[in-house]
Parts: sequence; C-alpha cells; structure tokens
Amino acid sequence: MLRTEDTSVTVYRQDYTPPAFAFGHVDLLVELDAERTVVTSRIEVKRLVKDTPLILHGEEQELLAVTINDEPAGHYSIDEDTLTLHEVPARFTLSITSANRPSANTSLMGLYVSGGNFFTQCEAEGFRKITYFLDRPDVMTTYTVTLRADKAQCPVLLANGNLISKADLPDGRHEAVWDDPFKKPSYLFALVAGRLSCIEETITTGSGASKLLQVWVEPADLDKTRHAMDSLIASIRWDEARFGLELDLERFMIVAVSDFNMGAMENKGLNIFNTKYVLANSETATDTDFANIESVVGHEYFHNWTGNRVTCRDWFQLSLKEGLTVFRDQEFSADMMGTASGRAVKRIEDVRLLRQVQFPEDAGPMAHPVRPDSYQEINNFYTVTVYEKGAEVVRMYQTLLGRDGFRKGMDLYFKRHDGQAVTCDDFRQAMADANGRDLTQFGRWYSQAGTPEVSALTRYNPADKSFTLTLTQHCPKVGIEISNEALDKQPFHIPVALGLVGPDGRDLPLQLDGEAAPQGTTRVLDLTERTQTYRFINVDAPPVPSLLRNFSAPVALDIHYTDEELAFLLAHDSDPFNRWEAGQRLATRTLLALVADAQAGRPLVADAKLVKALGSVLTDETLDPAFREQIWILPAETYLGERMGIADPAAVHAARQALRQGIASALQSELTDIYTRHRATGPYSPDAASAGRRALKNLALGYLIETGDAKALALAERQYAEADNMTDRSAALTALLNSDSPARGEALADFYMRFSDEALVIDKWFAMQAMQPGRHGQHVIDTVQSLMQHHAFTLRNPNRARSLIFSFCTANPAQFHAADGSGYTFWKNQVLALDAINPQVAARLARALDRWTRFTIPLRDRMHAALQQVAASSMLSRDVREIISKSLGQAG
Ligand code: TRP
Ligand code: ZN
Repeated sequence: MLRTEDTSVTVYRQDYTPPAFAFGHVDLLVELDAERTVVTSRIEVKRLVKDTPLILHGEEQELLAVTINDEPAGHYSIDEDTLTLHEVPARFTLSITSANRPSANTSLMGLYVSGGNFFTQCEAEGFRKITYFLDRPDVMTTYTVTLRADKAQCPVLLANGNLISKADLPDGRHEAVWDDPFKKPSYLFALVAGRLSCIEETITTGSGASKLLQVWVEPADLDKTRHAMDSLIASIRWDEARFGLELDLERFMIVAVSDFNMGAMENKGLNIFNTKYVLANSETATDTDFANIESVVGHEYFHNWTGNRVTCRDWFQLSLKEGLTVFRDQEFSADMMGTASGRAVKRIEDVRLLRQVQFPEDAGPMAHPVRPDSYQEINNFYTVTVYEKGAEVVRMYQTLLGRDGFRKGMDLYFKRHDGQAVTCDDFRQAMADANGRDLTQFGRWYSQAGTPEVSALTRYNPADKSFTLTLTQHCPKVGIEISNEALDKQPFHIPVALGLVGPDGRDLPLQLDGEAAPQGTTRVLDLTERTQTYRFINVDAPPVPSLLRNFSAPVALDIHYTDEELAFLLAHDSDPFNRWEAGQRLATRTLLALVADAQAGRPLVADAKLVKALGSVLTDETLDPAFREQIWILPAETYLGERMGIADPAAVHAARQALRQGIASALQSELTDIYTRHRATGPYSPDAASAGRRALKNLALGYLIETGDAKALALAERQYAEADNMTDRSAALTALLNSDSPARGEALADFYMRFSDEALVIDKWFAMQAMQPGRHGQHVIDTVQSLMQHHAFTLRNPNRARSLIFSFCTANPAQFHAADGSGYTFWKNQVLALDAINPQVAARLARALDRWTRFTIPLRDRMHAALQQVAASSMLSRDVREIISKSLGQAG
C-alpha cells in the first residue's frame, strides 16, 4: 500500500476539554486599511482553572502590543499559531493590538478585500486571523465593535448587532460603533465596509416589535435584490408560524460579496452571502437560481436560532446546527411550494442530491459519521454528510415523533439551551424527554458512518389473507472505520414508512397481527433489530408494497419488483415520492442493462416498457408539470457509475445518450406538443407553477434536440433569440451546445456580449461550455483549456474557478474521465494552482478523484498516478493534504 507522508495533526472528538478561561465583554477597535489593518481588542478575562497559561489562537498577524490591566504584559510567547500568556491573574482586562493585511488575503478567511470593499469570514477558524483570541465556539461573549475607515473609500461601515453611533474623524476618516447584545462565539463575528447600497424594509414581527431589514449590494446590483428581500420576509414569517421563533434583533442585514468560499454565512444580524445566492432578476437568473436564493436566505436566517442562539460546543457537533438548519430550510422551501405535488418535487430534489453526492461520500475514503470523531482540517468537514445526511437524521426525529412531537422537542431544546454551546446528544435528549421516548439507539446515526442497506422480502398468503414483510439491515464499515478492528457496527433505529397498494391502485388499510382494527394506510415501522418480520392481516388481495414512503430514512433499499410492478407503482402509488422512485428504479434497471450492452458492443435499444410508462406520465394532465419533469429526468451518469461494480463513464454516457435518443424519437410528437403547449404567454414570474411549466417545456426541448431533427434545432434557435428570461435563454443555449446547429457559436458569442457585465451570468457561460457533451469526438478538455486563457477567467474568484474547472471535473464525467487521462492531468494542475491561492477551494476540487478505486483499470491507474503527483508536492496546505492522503490511504 502506498501512503503519502502525513505529518498533519489529527484532532479527536474524545480530547475535548472545556476552556480554562471565560471571556466577558469584548471591545474591538478596527482601523481599516487594505494594506495594514490594525485591530485592538479589550477583553474581560476570568481564569477558571488555577495555574494555567492563557493560550490564544492567532495566525498571520503582526503582534504590536499586549497589556494586562493596562500594563505591558510581562511573560508571553508567540509561535506560528498561538500567543501564550504565562502566569496571568484570576481576573484581568486583556488588551491586544495586532495588524493584518486584507489586500493580500486570498484565502477569503478572516478579513479580506473583494471589489475594493472589506469583508470577513470567520467560520470555522477565521477570527484568529483578525485578532488573537480563544477562537472556539464554546467561548461566547458580547461584542462592541468600533470601525474606523476613510470616509470616501468606505462610506458604509457594518458590524453585528445594533448601530450605536457614527462620527466623523480627522483626516477624512469616520467611525461607526456597533453593539451586539447577544453572546456569541467568535465564528459569528462579522464586519463589512466599503461602497455599498441597500434596499430596506421595516416589518412588524409577532410581538409587535418593528424591525429594519436591509439587503446590501454593489450599487449596480440594486435591481437584483427584490427576491432576496422577499425571501427574507417569508423566512421571518415562516419561523414564527412553524416554530414560534421570532427575530431577536432590531435590525437584520444581508450583504452580497462576489468572492466567497461557500454559499453564505449566518453571522449574527449581518449575514454575508455569495452574490450567487442574493442577486436575481428575470434577465440574469434562472428559476433554479430564484429557488436557491429563497432556500439559502431561509437557511442563514434560520441559523439565528439553530446555530446562533444555541450553538455548537465544538466543531465535531457541526451537524447540530447544519443538519437541523438544512432540515428547516428544506421544510421552508417545501411549504413555500404551496401544493402537495410541489412538496414532493422539493423532496425528490433533496433526495437526488443525497444519493448522487452523499451516498458516494459515505462509501468512499472521506466517509465519516454525521458527528465525526476526528479531523485534520475542519474546513474539510463541511460536507454533504454533515449537512444533507444530518438533515435526514433530523427529519427522522420528525417522522418518528410526528410534527407535534418534533415541535415539543424543539421547544424543550430552546428552553434548556438558549445561550449555550451544546452537543448533538443534547438535541437528541431534548427530543427524547419532550416525548417520553427512548432515543438511545437512534444515537447510532451520529456515531456510525456509511449508508445502511435495508433488504425487504415479502410474501402474500391468499389462504389466510396475510402479508408478511421481513426487513434486514446491514451497514459495512467504510472510510476510516475500516482500519478500526475493534469496531463492531450495530443496527440503526430506522423508521420505515410503508403502504400496501391494492390491485385497483388504492391503498389497503393496514392491520398488524395482534391489532384489533386497521390503522391508516401509511404506517411508520420501527426497524431496530438486524432482522424483523411484520405480519399484516386481513389483506384482501395481493398488494404491491410501497416502502420507505417520502424517503423516510437515508438508506439503500433492496427490494425485488418486476417491471410490471414498477410501472404499476409509477402509475398509482398514493405517495408521490414513491411514484417517482418507481420510475427511477425502472429507468436505472434499463440503463444498467444498456451499459452492459455498450460494453459488449451490442446495439443500444430503448426499452419499450419504459418508453410507454414515460409516455403516459408525459401526457397525464392530472400531474403537475414540475412533477412530470422530475419523473422524466433520467438517473445521472455518476449515480449510474456508483451502481456498477466497476464504473465505466464512457459506457454509461453512451447508454444514457442512446436511451435519451430512443425515448425522444419514440415520443417526438408528444414532446413537440408538450413543448408548444407549455410556452409561457404572460410576463415572467418565478413562482413554482410557472417555473414548473418552463421546466417541463425545456425538458421537452432537451429531448427533442437529441433527435437531431432540423425542426428541433429551429425551436432552440428561436427560443434563444426570443427568450425574455434567463431560464429559457440558458436552456436554449444548452440545447444548442448539445446539437450540430450552425448557430451554436453565434449564440455563445451573443450570450457573452449580452451579459459581459454580469459576473454570475458569465459564470454560467463558462459552466455550460465545460459541461457540454462533446459531439463527434470533440474533446471538451481542449475547450476548457482554451477558456482558461480567456481574459474573463481567473482562479482567484471561487465562483469563476468553480464555473469552469469544477463543472468540468465534477459535472461532465464522460469527458473528465477521457481514456487518455488528460482530465486528470488538468485536475492535478488546477488543484496545485488553486492550493497556492485558496486551500479551502482547492481541497473541494481535490475530492473529484475520491472514488478512483472504483473505476476501470486504465482510468484507475491514471487517477492513482495523478493523486501521487499531487501528494509529492512539498507545498500542500493541510486542507489538500488531508484529502489526498485519505484518498491514497484507501488503496488496496
Ligand atoms: N455556516 C455556513 C452555512 O452553512 C457555511 C460556512 C461554513 C462557510 N464555513 C464557511 C461559508 C466558510 C463561507 C466560508 O450557512
Ligand atoms: Zn448552515
């Protein structure tokens, strides 16, 4: 086995110790200057443990002064990342002055400059780049912040909390004083300064208090803020209605910044957002962008209670706030959809992400429990497991306890822990105590990694009209668990929602053996043993079981269905999620057979049963367009690769393309009809119903293009030219890129010219080209390489790097995994180049080769070589090194 030398320090959850010092109030004075910002802190310190030195975190700062009770401190020492004060009194006022250089900060952690303005990002450990501090989430204090800057350069000065005063100073400078009355950990600190404009609105919340809401952007973007403001107001209303939680500050601000490592950040009262999740109007943003903005605005706002008022004791507990807040934003978006079918569409999208990205993570070298036991770099643990699987774990409480029981648990959680830094166990205990339930076994969802496999065996006995279901669960060791020989994985507590569909397509009443009468038509079974059998009685006719309704647990369900049964469920299941699921199973089965055909060089023929089933869904006017579109989206290439013993991206792509073409030619007239009838008539609106119609229409266009028919090309060209919104324009351009239309090049050039001032749209322009399928032997890598030289391309802006590099390496599998290994060489070069600028972003890209051991031999060997080449660099950040060494560590 080959390993890279791994000198990084591993942090273990078991090593947690409470802080030896408590901080009272903190005063911060920040003298902003892009070249040299000087920060002075004043902290009330109380020693909790005798004879302990005070060890503060601090990085990349120039230390200028340290005083204790206003006298120069005597005994202190500094190294790369700490400042240690030896022999400190039991109580004292500590003051530290240090300088940092925002203009040179390309990591986008701590204080940095973007577009000439100042921003901060402190989660997880960025505050230590601003001042020396106990930069850990269980140290919570109140802050008063004085910002000083040149008034012309920085007319706007913002920080957390409430604005206390503003004043002009000599030499053209001015200051603003902000006070945050709520205790918070340092990772929630934020400041923003520069030339920004805002829209604002005053609303009255539940208690009758009036609140000022602002959305701050660069002046040119003011016309793209309305949707974010509407989303914020909707979020505030929703949290009051659904959870009884009110906004606690007088003022709530959202600020957009174009250089940002992630989506957005929930700093107390001063949320900072990637522009991608704020700016939208019909010309520049797609329906998906509008929906994402609503969801991310909600997410950050909901953190005000789940994350800020109650925070994490340590970073291992990250899912305490992230899993819970993702669950809340999912429920918010679902409620905003307005219909049962809309809710199902939202659920399908969330589960698709979970399966496509989280399941592979949970089976690969980075697999970790929702509450990890160790890490080298915490930034690498902002993962789909912590976020999305964490949200599924929270959803399971609601499934087990019911909506009311879940609400009781939430109420008790806030009653017990408001103002505290707590653990995932505290949350579970509140859920258990509020409902009188024992959730001890449920705790394994936090401690064991991997996707449990649940297999189902069923038997109908016509003689006694009984239906027997046997469920068996199994979860193999994954990732870091594999090397832990002592580990013996235990069964999970799995809620399995079930219905039995009768021959007429209607749900049968459910009566378990031993019950006096039937109870309902969907039941949640508690699977807690490795194997359990359930016997239903008085089942009048042989049913088709519908298991895991609404995806009641994040597991892989193994159940045998015939094609006819799947077509039946697709047509009749009362649970819309499982209707979709039946269609996906049918399509996956067909596709995997086609992949085998492709590998064997056999002709690729679309399965008639699948075509027929899809045809009836397409024209079923009782189904919402958005839901029909979901059913028509074939399983993704990466998902199919994961379902194979050995992944073969070229064969998967060939099979999926052939199926799309087969479906399109078989249903050409139906698709044309759908396209025509779902063209919008009135002005653009991003509401769910209109977006659903556009989605179905554009899906039809995408299929029609596969026929290569001149009429289809004409439709796409016309849609591109006449579009009055970005959803239609970008869908048309994507269709053209997937065709031989002579208008492709012209449309691409037009798109660039039209939107050259709109950074987020230019990101789309790069991304669409990076994700194009590559027609007639075209190597998309060549296009990507030449786009790297485009004057609008830069590695420094994470959105731009993601639009070109990540789109190619993670969203275009057939081209990225080209047989000659050119994709991997490109990947290696970009990981190294990015790492020198921004380790967090580089480490995300580094993960694109995570699953290398699963690929066909030539690809696998080439990936291995590329990983080793990265590992050989002596300059790697801790972030990238952890990813690469874990990937290589899994070599067989
Ligand atoms: N806490 C943020 C959220 O989920 C995300 C976040 C974590 C983040 N670390 C970050 C954002 C670093 C930007 C940079 O809402
Ligand atoms: Zn979050």
